[in-house]
Amino acid sequence: MRSFTGRDILSLKDFERSEFFHLFEIADRLEPIARERRNTDLLAHKTLVTAFYQPSTRTRLAHEAAMHRLGGHVTGFSDAKMTRAGDFYQESIKDTVHMLEYYGDVLVMRHFEQGAPHEAAKWCSIPVINAGDGWGEHPTQILTDLYTVLKEKGTIDGLTFVAIGDHRMRTMHSLGYALSQFDVEMVILAPEEMSPLPEFLAELDEKGTNYRVVDHIDDVIAEADVIYMEPVIQPDYTLSVQERPDDYGLTPANYKITPEVMKRAKGDSIILHSLPRMDELLPEVDQLKHARYWQEAYNGVVMRMALLSSVLGAWE
Ligand code: CP
Repeated sequence: MRSFTGRDILSLKDFERSEFFHLFEIADRLEPIARERRNTDLLAHKTLVTAFYQPSTRTRLAHEAAMHRLGGHVTGFSDAKMTRAGDFYQESIKDTVHMLEYYGDVLVMRHFEQGAPHEAAKWCSIPVINAGDGWGEHPTQILTDLYTVLKEKGTIDGLTFVAIGDHRMRTMHSLGYALSQFDVEMVILAPEEMSPLPEFLAELDEKGTNYRVVDHIDDVIAEADVIYMEPVIQPDYTLSVQERPDDYGLTPANYKITPEVMKRAKGDSIILHSLPRMDELLPEVDQLKHARYWQEAYNGVVMRMALLSSVLGAWE
């Protein structure tokens, strides 16, 4: 297994099975700190820099919370418009990260351009973590989600993942790549215009991800162990920020999870959603035994503790 110390976390394309389990084990070790709401001094001499060119609630704050739990420091920006990268100067990623690398020890970047964190990693001497790049990938979210599956189901192997929603989404890409390392089936359900791109499916074929595409929730709901959801009503992820139009539409029934749909699901199936949600996941579902998205949100802090401590070399 490759060392995590100093490593960029840009994609799950190249993640090996042992590396997933290594991070899950570190997360298990650190979880009591989050559960007991303690702060420790594991990263007391380290600083996290956040560079968010797109809005975020969970990803930025979970990384920041994780750093605080580990006794580290946090600096950065959550609105590029208040920096020289987002004003008149439109400062390049290269010039920006040449500054940021002097301000801390690890950089977490979200950007509207696919590949921007990869570009940052070329010019930055500190590890770069991809917090979501355009439609590209969202590796830390899927690490969080697979850790949640492991904790809630006791296994990842042997499960059927039904992934519902916009399959152009960065989470869906990271999920497809990650699942190549497990003995699972990925069932894809998406509106036609949000279907996975042929190039992405070709990559899944090459990596050996076991997937099939279905047309209707009724075809798969009874088989699902993990129901993985993304909205189909959502902004354009290639924009820095997008206001919600008045006519943003409603989610077609085929891509919604409701208490009625869940009556046909396995009793022990779980629902994950990276959030935020629109009307594809109604608040009524929160009361069902299947809902695990709040646990997923909690695990978001735990997994970021595991990632930050690993890339900062706390375990070597
Ligand atoms: N899940 C997720 O990426 O949420 P945020 O956009 O709030 O970070």
